[in-house]
Amino acid sequence: MTDQPRIVVTRRPPGRAMEMLEGSCRVVLWDEDRAMPRDDLLTAIAQADGLYSMLTDAVDAALLAAAPSLRAVSQMAVGLDNVDLAAATVRGIPVGHTPEVLNETTADTVFALLLALVRRVVEGAAYVKEGRWGPWQPELLLGGDLHHTTLGIIGMGRIGSVVARRASGFEMRILYHNRRPNEHAADLNAHFRSFEDLLAESDHVVVMAPLTDETYHLIDRRALELMKPTATLVNGSRGGLVDPVALEEALREGWISGAALDVTEPEPIPADHPLLDLENCLIIPHLGSASVATRAAMAELAAENLIAALAGRRMPACANPAVYE
Ligand code: DGY
Repeated sequence: MTDQPRIVVTRRPPGRAMEMLEGSCRVVLWDEDRAMPRDDLLTAIAQADGLYSMLTDAVDAALLAAAPSLRAVSQMAVGLDNVDLAAATVRGIPVGHTPEVLNETTADTVFALLLALVRRVVEGAAYVKEGRWGPWQPELLLGGDLHHTTLGIIGMGRIGSVVARRASGFEMRILYHNRRPNEHAADLNAHFRSFEDLLAESDHVVVMAPLTDETYHLIDRRALELMKPTATLVNGSRGGLVDPVALEEALREGWISGAALDVTEPEPIPADHPLLDLENCLIIPHLGSASVATRAAMAELAAENLIAALAGRRMPACANPAVYE
């Protein structure tokens, strides 16, 4: 139908999302197993009413300027650091994202990283595969504990709060640092600390804050020096929150005992990156929300956001609600 809105989808989404989008839009889909190249996106967006983006697309002011008919952007992610939200808001373009539906899965991944790092799961599995497993030894691959230790959560938002809930099950003492105190912190038995005090007191530090100009390289040399030498660091947010040069030095020189990263700077991390040579550094490829059910829920919520906006309705999950005022 010619009066259907035209949309660009920068990568095939999972679940029922494509079916939903094709039901009410004319879709230009980048159907390759790699991010849509910038030039192709710039060409396609020139005719588009809507954009269904991935976190690998730079939805910046130049892209928005190249899209005179654009009326809505919907991203299949909760994080929007790749989107110029201010520029979209000035144009009155609602930007959708996928909060809430990924909280539990992402918190599970954070705990998987914490446990794998502290209990040396990956090293143990490699040891067995290498055929090195001999008779039981009293001091083979000893690690630390999670239970009854202190967890420090930097960024106590939606996902950070679910991480805190998980931590109660491990009988951990929970500290958090946020721009402003979290109103549910008392229910979660979580105690506010200054950034510095949290780093100094925690056995395990989990970074969950969004990437902004203020949080870029929040975990720098100074922050790492404040941590305990026995402490571990987990980044489940965006790579840019941790300075990789400082982290490498900290891990090599024993300022902290280990790090587990779901996200890196740069991303993807090159195969010859020095962090990959370190036994006390565990890196996985941005899998925080990567369960079948959660990725489908994200894809479908992003489709609902775009379909609603292009039909003149409010997005169910809009990151710049100021456009409706
Ligand atoms: C997001 O949604 O921002 C994650 O990084 C991918 O799940």
